[in-house]
Amino acid sequence: MSFLSQEKIAEIRDSVDIVDIISNYVSLVPKGKNYFGVCPFHDDNNPSMSVNKDKKIYKCFSCGATGTVFKFVMDYENISFIEAVKKVGESAGINVNLGKIEKPRNNTKLHDIYDLSLKFYINNINTAAGKEAKDYLHGRGITDEIIKEFQIGLALNGKDKLSNLLLKKFDEKEVMKSGLINKNAYGYLDLFYDRIMFPLYDLNGNVVAYSGRIYNKEDNSKYFNTWETEVFKKGELLYNYHRAKDIARQKNQIIVTEGFMDVIRCHSIGIKNVVATMGTAVTKEQAILIKKMAKDVILCFDGDEAGAKATMACSDLLLSLGVTPKIIRLENNMDPDEYIVKHGNDFESKIKHTINIMDFKLDYLKHGKNLNNTVDEAKYVNEAIKEIKKIDDEILQELTIKKVAKETELDEALIRSKIEPVQKVKEIKQKPKPKVKIDKYEMAERNLIYYMLRSTEVIKMYNAKVTYMPTKEYRLLAREIKMFYKDNGFINEADLIDYVECDEETLKTLSKVEEANLKENFSIEEIEDYINVIKDYNIKYEVNRLTTQMKQELDPLKKAEIAQKIVNLKKECNNV
Ligand code: UTP
Ligand code: MN
Repeated sequence: MSFLSQEKIAEIRDSVDIVDIISNYVSLVPKGKNYFGVCPFHDDNNPSMSVNKDKKIYKCFSCGATGTVFKFVMDYENISFIEAVKKVGESAGINVNLGKIEKPRNNTKLHDIYDLSLKFYINNINTAAGKEAKDYLHGRGITDEIIKEFQIGLALNGKDKLSNLLLKKFDEKEVMKSGLINKNAYGYLDLFYDRIMFPLYDLNGNVVAYSGRIYNKEDNSKYFNTWETEVFKKGELLYNYHRAKDIARQKNQIIVTEGFMDVIRCHSIGIKNVVATMGTAVTKEQAILIKKMAKDVILCFDGDEAGAKATMACSDLLLSLGVTPKIIRLENNMDPDEYIVKHGNDFESKIKHTINIMDFKLDYLKHGKNLNNTVDEAKYVNEAIKEIKKIDDEILQELTIKKVAKETELDEALIRSKIEPVQKVKEIKQKPKPKVKIDKYEMAERNLIYYMLRSTEVIKMYNAKVTYMPTKEYRLLAREIKMFYKDNGFINEADLIDYVECDEETLKTLSKVEEANLKENFSIEEIEDYINVIKDYNIKYEVNRLTTQMKQELDPLKKAEIAQKIVNLKKECNNV
């Protein structure tokens, strides 16, 4: 529970315009009474999210995401409810003094284990045994200040130093789950020894894994990473996300690199809106995170062939999410780290003069082809057409068509004719999904709640007449509404949402209820009908239960007693 009063939360929510706040993250266009934009919470290109200024609620018609301004900020920034209230409050000039906000943590024990290991590794690098590692880092121009900021540490040259420490403090079972310790016939073994330890963070900035680098010997693997654990899923994180996201949002620009050394190096020359994908193929989760940070996405992968390939793959993922990235390519196979070491602040000018995605792609497609050879040329044009189809930006599409036509001396109309059919396919894809049918009992519950959200009279009727909602999700929501009304004496959807602190399950149910889209006016008879249907359901259920009981009962007297109960119940019922 929060330390903030409901009144304060409502004051903050009411003093901002939900349309203004959401516009900081996605662009909204007015249409009728509402505003519409592309929902950032699922993979989409269409404006399925509507924002209602008066109700102070947004809703996505495609994925069902809904909530108040706080919920939006929470999900977009991956922060807690209270942090979102604070953030929105500050943007409205309301000071929300909460003291230090604890980072959200989903597995306390593992986090504690990582906290201790981090202290241990950081301590090691500052002892005499850490001198060689420090010299290595200094040699690469990594200053003590950077070492401290990025919490770089050292795993010592011993096979069970961390194991001993952790097993003294924590349960063996928990320690084994951390992905830091191995076990064999002879005992426990540290996974990392004699490596420089770079902590990897989750989206909230908790240390959840390490990448250990060799520094004083040859080894097959330059970096070695912690195994995946409950709290570490490599494909769901971006290195430095928690430090970069706010700066990226302010600048509306995010630079994506492959390695964390690239991030650290950029940071050291004051470029802080940088994250790293950490080598492996970029996942959809990562692409969504990138999209959420800034409109202007710059991919700056390694200058080698593998980096070019990764740029192609990552661009396609981003394009499928409606983001058109800009590209930086570095000469001589350099990575950003090496480039900055060699050319220093020239890197800034690379950022200012990015290559547009299609120029990069056309260039990439030409690799290994001889355009004087007709077969190669045809292959090039076909591949280029495929790439042109992937972009949303019509102007960029048009310019690229012209470019390819000119290079190959083909007719523009021919290329265009190969591209058009796709747009039709896209339109078909936009058709709304069919509605799921629900039975009459569920419909009665849903409709009753729909009106409970709009009228205190209906809540009173619910309180007086409904003892039990059969469907769990509706039962829980009805209970929240009842409690809210009891505490406040009124009902309002936005207030209710914040009252439950944007609880995910409650919002899901709310979203389902709102999909009913019933008329705003209702009659008391209608409400009574819903209540009767629910009552009937409960009676039917009880009748079934008693019938089974009666069948199993051997004592004829008791059997008759149950039979009487069933008869009485059936009398109460309206239409069983
Ligand atoms: P790179 O091989 O490009 O490393 O891998 P780098 O950034 O140039 O590192 P330095 O400069 O040699 O120290 C990029 C990223 O891929 C992951 C790491 O996350 C690294 O940051 N990687 C690389 C591994 O996980 N394991 C490896 O063996 C190599
Ligand atoms: Mn490097």
